[in-house]
Amino acid sequence: MEVTVGVEDAETGGHVKHVLSAERCVLVIFGITGDLSHRKLVPALYHLLRAEALPENFAVVGVSRSCADVDALREKLRESAARFSRTRELDPEVWDRFAERIHCVPGSVDDPETFRRLDEVCREVSASQNIGGNRLYYMAVAPSHFGPILQGLQAAGLVLETRGEGPWSRVIVEKPFGFDLKTAVQLNDLVAEVLQEEQTYRIDHYLGKETVQNILVFRFANSIFEPLWNRAHIDSVQVTAAEDLLVTGRGAFYDQTGVVRDIVQNHLLQILALVAMEPPVSLDADAIRDAKVNVIRSLRPVNLREDVALGQYEGYRAVEGVAADSRTPTYVAMKAYIDSWRWHGVPFYLRAGKALASGDTEVAITFRPGPGVLFGADDSLHENQLVMQIQPDEGIDLRFASKVPGEDMHIGRVTMRMSYAAAFSVQPGDAYERLLLDGMRGDATLFARRDEVEEAWAFVDPIISSYEDVTATVQTYAPKSCGPEAAEAMMCRDGRTWRPFGT
Ligand code: BG6
Repeated sequence: MEVTVGVEDAETGGHVKHVLSAERCVLVIFGITGDLSHRKLVPALYHLLRAEALPENFAVVGVSRSCADVDALREKLRESAARFSRTRELDPEVWDRFAERIHCVPGSVDDPETFRRLDEVCREVSASQNIGGNRLYYMAVAPSHFGPILQGLQAAGLVLETRGEGPWSRVIVEKPFGFDLKTAVQLNDLVAEVLQEEQTYRIDHYLGKETVQNILVFRFANSIFEPLWNRAHIDSVQVTAAEDLLVTGRGAFYDQTGVVRDIVQNHLLQILALVAMEPPVSLDADAIRDAKVNVIRSLRPVNLREDVALGQYEGYRAVEGVAADSRTPTYVAMKAYIDSWRWHGVPFYLRAGKALASGDTEVAITFRPGPGVLFGADDSLHENQLVMQIQPDEGIDLRFASKVPGEDMHIGRVTMRMSYAAAFSVQPGDAYERLLLDGMRGDATLFARRDEVEEAWAFVDPIISSYEDVTATVQTYAPKSCGPEAAEAMMCRDGRTWRPFGT
């Protein structure tokens, strides 16, 4: 049984964090002709301009081997913005205002001449639009180019040390940040040679999602849940990132990556950290990141034999770029424990996968049932559950028992729902809008810090080794299913069940 409760008019106010404004700057996008720029970055910038959130003095300088003709580049970006924009229809006036701010520098990032030319173009654009010397560099390229770009920027003297009031340089690094702990440390070392940590913005786009940010607000701006948020009251937590999409068009990349590197190391562990962290001492970037990293650092190594289930969907090996005998998992489920006072003994079940029955990202908190002395001992009826639906159908559900109307005392389960769409009557912006804006504001709260990234790799590395170096079983599962049987069996052993998709 399900009821949807009305939501009071959403009132806003009580800003607890001073909102910085976006500072004038040149946004340099390495990889302006690539997939990420077309699908995400340019549509996000268009929306920011439309919402008048971009600074007045602002320009984009794209770098790519294949962007010699700026008019052709602008036209291609317009087509993509129209295709991938969340509002579909582009406002031609807004687009034209945006397009005239786009410039390009053709060249390879292995060539020092590219960086010399880039500097020249940035200076020209800055002078003509009164931008000053601020530059935000965005590495929207394959990870193999991160090193050459950092070195190229350094050699050409294009990274300014951020001190006080002077012009700044910041660098946004796309994921994947490293391939394992060793390579992440190497990349971090290189980053540290070129940049200060405060200039480094490691993207995890999940942190830009409204619903992920709301975990913090939900937990710490309300008084009723936090007293229950511990091992005394919580039975278990499930964090799910299920996708119904197949691996198409990126087989070669995915086959090297697999679901653990692609989703668990970053998105899932970030969500877990927000759900499980202690209250941060303030809302400053470092205070929040300190609280998150403590969670990741407290994760107990997973029992690889019993508490991990790996799967690969049928048909995956036929994807272009995927090895015919690939053992790369497209699904993983695991049970993790956080060795802390608050969470001792509470299992955190994590699962992520492609080609599943539906696309659902959510956090489900199951509370311990009360004693069944009055209404019978059917735990499932008394089991209160709080579900934070990250996407789609963004919202929060609270499930509890209720008397079913009638002469007898029958108990049913009902769900009370807060829906973002109903409460706020706006479509949430894309995560990249928020993250680009934060880069221009100099707010690193929603970006991962060095230690977070390394601790996350330290946690997942043994899981990756279990199927890459040792022959842990990778079961096949049917597309559009709930994943491999091993995942069900793992839950069954614990006397629990996975939350069905799409509920
Ligand atoms: C990316 C992964 O980081 O996140 C993709 O590389 C995945 O494989 C994507 O599909 C999911 O993001 P979202 O925002 O669509 O949930």
